Amino acid sequence: MSQNQIPELSGFGGDDLDAAFAKIVDEVQDSSTNLTDDEAVEQFRLHWLGRKQGRLKAISDAWLKSAPADAKKHIGQRFNKLKEEIDRRLESAGNVGISRAQLAAEAIDVTLPGLRRPLGAEHPLIKTMNEIVSVFQAMGYSVGVGPEVETDYYNFESLNFPPNHPARDTQDTLVIANQERKPLRDRLLMRTHTSPVQIRTMERQPPPVQIVIPGKVHRNDAADATHSPIFHQVEGLCVGPKITFSDLKGTLDHAMKAFFGSSVKTRFFPSFFPFTEPSADVQISCIFCGGTGCRKCKHSGWIELLGCGMVDPAVFALVQAKQPGYDPKKVSGFAFGMGVERIAMMKYGISEIGQLYSGDMRFLEQFA
Ligand code: DAH
Repeated sequence: MSQNQIPELSGFGGDDLDAAFAKIVDEVQDSSTNLTDDEAVEQFRLHWLGRKQGRLKAISDAWLKSAPADAKKHIGQRFNKLKEEIDRRLESAGNVGISRAQLAAEAIDVTLPGLRRPLGAEHPLIKTMNEIVSVFQAMGYSVGVGPEVETDYYNFESLNFPPNHPARDTQDTLVIANQERKPLRDRLLMRTHTSPVQIRTMERQPPPVQIVIPGKVHRNDAADATHSPIFHQVEGLCVGPKITFSDLKGTLDHAMKAFFGSSVKTRFFPSFFPFTEPSADVQISCIFCGGTGCRKCKHSGWIELLGCGMVDPAVFALVQAKQPGYDPKKVSGFAFGMGVERIAMMKYGISEIGQLYSGDMRFLEQFA
């Protein structure tokens, strides 16, 4: 296809234009008789529609340049029709302007190696939390969750921390702003522990309950090697007729053995939590030295791991308003709570809590 001369317009009237465009359509027709292979189609496309040297553009430039302003619109409309005609022919040739080069670029080379997506793995913190939870699931516990933004009532008051009681000072609290107009019990805060979900669970279902509650908690603590203002706990609650301190000891002793290994021993130290009476701190024999004393256990042979106790009757009494089944004369129970970071750090020998939150692949890959 050679570039023909650009035909002259004999005038700008409708008939003149129709005649001139009809000639070009003939030209298009003549040049499209042999579009039998890709090469020919591409030649045709370039000849008419080529962005720089295409004939359509050359004609349009020439005709529009010489046209008076009021004729430009009429010429433009006819060019649009002409362009449609060319497109139609390309389309019926079965190949709308896709060149061989373009096709080659889009083709898939099945001999190339594929893109390998590395498999993800559980984060060591989540892994630890899931492992703790599954130890209790194996004992028949269900799993629950609760809100991270909590009311003063559920976080403190229902757990027997009265307003202004010094026990509240043990959990430096992040409160939500502008709550002062509400009654204290309705004011919102970031939960400082997962214990409020004990109350929410009992309010929702009558006894017996056996539940573990993993989750995130917040405290207004400065970050250091072992503290973070956001961390994770697993809470536990078991309530039923005749649940005793022996059940508590047996359950936690079994859980620690299941989690850390059967040679681990536990011991219970008197402690205080407002919502349990009596309360205890649980220590396990040092998993590093087996109890003989080392740097990790500060040469005591024991490591403190969690808090627990028998549910205080005052807690049941508050829940009873919504669930009469929690009559402290008829049911008893135990509860426990543990910090997941502390356990993960001990299990994996991590000395900086911040590494758990860093997202650094060099750190995380070690646990994959
Ligand atoms: N909520 C306590 C804390 O964050 C931990 C705790 C202690 C939970 C004793 C319990 C418990 O359920 O019985 O310090």
